[in-house]
Amino acid sequence: MATTKKKTAAKTLTVDIGGSGVKVMVLDEKGNSVTERARVPTPQPAKPDAVLAAIVKLAKGQGDFDRVSVGFPGVVRRGVTETAANLNADWIGFDLAKALSQSLGKPVRVANDADIQGFGAISGRGVELVVTLGTGFGSALFVDGRLVPNLEAAHHQFRRNQTYEQRLGRAALDKAGKKKWNRRLTKAIAALQYLFNYDTLYIGGGNAKKINIDLPPNVKTVPNVAGLLGGIALWRD
Ligand code: BGC
Repeated sequence: MATTKKKTAAKTLTVDIGGSGVKVMVLDEKGNSVTERARVPTPQPAKPDAVLAAIVKLAKGQGDFDRVSVGFPGVVRRGVTETAANLNADWIGFDLAKALSQSLGKPVRVANDADIQGFGAISGRGVELVVTLGTGFGSALFVDGRLVPNLEAAHHQFRRNQTYEQRLGRAALDKAGKKKWNRRLTKAIAALQYLFNYDTLYIGGGNAKKINIDLPPNVKTVPNVAGLLGGIALWRD
């Protein structure tokens, strides 16, 4: 008689490729973390080979996993990265899912970083908009928990002939200072409310902790770890 093999729950290595750091963590079947988050600075220049090598190295310190989710700071279609404003032009047209799957020997799914952060933040009810304040300006839109993929508010005109990312990205925060940047954020929140009429707006990303304005009642900040925790959603099918 054949012995029945005990089915073990799949573990997901979740990866967040950022403009300043690459982060990883392993999640259990339910999406709870089972390892400590590890981070290395994003290699410079941030070309595919160098970033892949950083992920492989980080993965070695995370123990066993069965599959991989990656959040990438650009437009992603079927595992291929189509834009990379804050990394390197070599990413344009790069099959990240395939390359990383070959390096790690596991199935890999890739999505936009803000989309993943959104999965880690939303409630699944109504129109929910997510923006991330980090090196770039991430954006993600959900309707009753369903993602509208690759919403890219970042490079749209916002004010003074500049885009959301030019006014609110990391370089802008460094240059303008916290006070002005917070004032700009107030205006961006109002503009986005007019445009999307969202029920809830979530603000994540590493610079969300720099917010010092009173937020409207339907606007909440979320911890940056959502950018890793949301990775589990890529395997819900
Ligand atoms: C990219 C987005 C990304 C955001 C945050 C922007 O520059 O165009 O795709 O989500 O940065 O990383």
